[in-house]
Amino acid sequence: MKKLSFLLLCALFAIHATAQVPARKKQMIALANKTLDFAASQYKLMMKQVPDSVLPRTTNNKDGRLVTAKSNWWTAGFYPGTLWYLYEYTKDETLKQEAIKRDELIEKEKNNKGTHDLGFMMYCSFGNGYRLTKNPAYKAVLLTSARSLSTRFNPKVGCIKSWDHGAWEFPVIIDNMMNLELLTWASRVSKEPSFDHIARTHANTTMLHHFRPDFSSYHVIGYDSTTGAVLNRNTHQGAADSSAWARGQAWGLYGYTMMYRETKDKRYLDQAQHIAGFILGHPRLPADLIPYWDYDAPGIPNVPRDASAGAVAASALLELSRYTTGTISARYWNAGEKMLESLCSPAYLATAGENNDFILKHSVGSLPQNSEVDVPLTYADYYFVEALLRYKQWAK
Ligand code: GLY
Repeated sequence: MKKLSFLLLCALFAIHATAQVPARKKQMIALANKTLDFAASQYKLMMKQVPDSVLPRTTNNKDGRLVTAKSNWWTAGFYPGTLWYLYEYTKDETLKQEAIKRDELIEKEKNNKGTHDLGFMMYCSFGNGYRLTKNPAYKAVLLTSARSLSTRFNPKVGCIKSWDHGAWEFPVIIDNMMNLELLTWASRVSKEPSFDHIARTHANTTMLHHFRPDFSSYHVIGYDSTTGAVLNRNTHQGAADSSAWARGQAWGLYGYTMMYRETKDKRYLDQAQHIAGFILGHPRLPADLIPYWDYDAPGIPNVPRDASAGAVAASALLELSRYTTGTISARYWNAGEKMLESLCSPAYLATAGENNDFILKHSVGSLPQNSEVDVPLTYADYYFVEALLRYKQWAK
């Protein structure tokens, strides 16, 4: 009899637990819709204040004014990219026309061979534009951009060179993983295997040299361009060479999740899971799951959070949960969901008309350079909106 009551209790608990899951998802979908509505209204305000010749970048934290960027800055594509996402959600022609106008402004960067950031710049903008419109002119822009990016690949090193500046001979930053999606896309569309080869080789080399035994990553690896040997292990935007810069960890997580999607190479899935393990198991990851700007920042907990790192990680974790099963998948999904819930709260979400019409507050660009500290950032908005759309699509 006792055993029967116990079994009955277990069954009731299981029924209750499964009934809770859809309720939580329903609640989060409603929150995502509300936040996306708000995001669209913020960006419609932003459209009116950004001059035609530039792109919104951040806020000056001294005088509170909008800071803009020219088309060759690495963040140029995020504003049109966010507009495309918001158009996808709202079907509002005004947002689409603004996205088209801003894409036109950055089109010339397709020939820019001086930056590794062409993936960010062109794939987030024209990539989303092409996905939604199938405009053949956008496809041509993307293929030219992929060719330009490929010129930075050095087969001896096995990587795309990140910067042409700084003290390094051949610097590669973890962020560069994000630029590979442009190349895997280009290979699929053009049937030219060389783009895919470059993307995989870069990802493999990065896996070999950027990661520590705990699967945190260095920010910058300096290579010898002739021999491919590692010369330096440094940071540029983190607290120390040996520290775990929060956005860098998120770029790695997103990058390897994306590379698994694109190639189905299990090594990339394993790497993404190892990085997720580092982030989610970190003793200094705050309860709301939005990281401090560096996991090893001196002064934690009295240091700025980085909402951009939270947004990138949320988007990546939601995707990673789709490539895994059982409790592991649920762990990634729940963490991404929690990050989104936190970002949707007044602690991070702007109110109407404030924040220079950006959506999220409290990101950090580069604290060691005292640049963009505790401000909105255009890429925090982009990955936040992406993650909200992913949540809505995949929760079902
Ligand atoms: N790619 C530069 C950054 O994440 O700040």
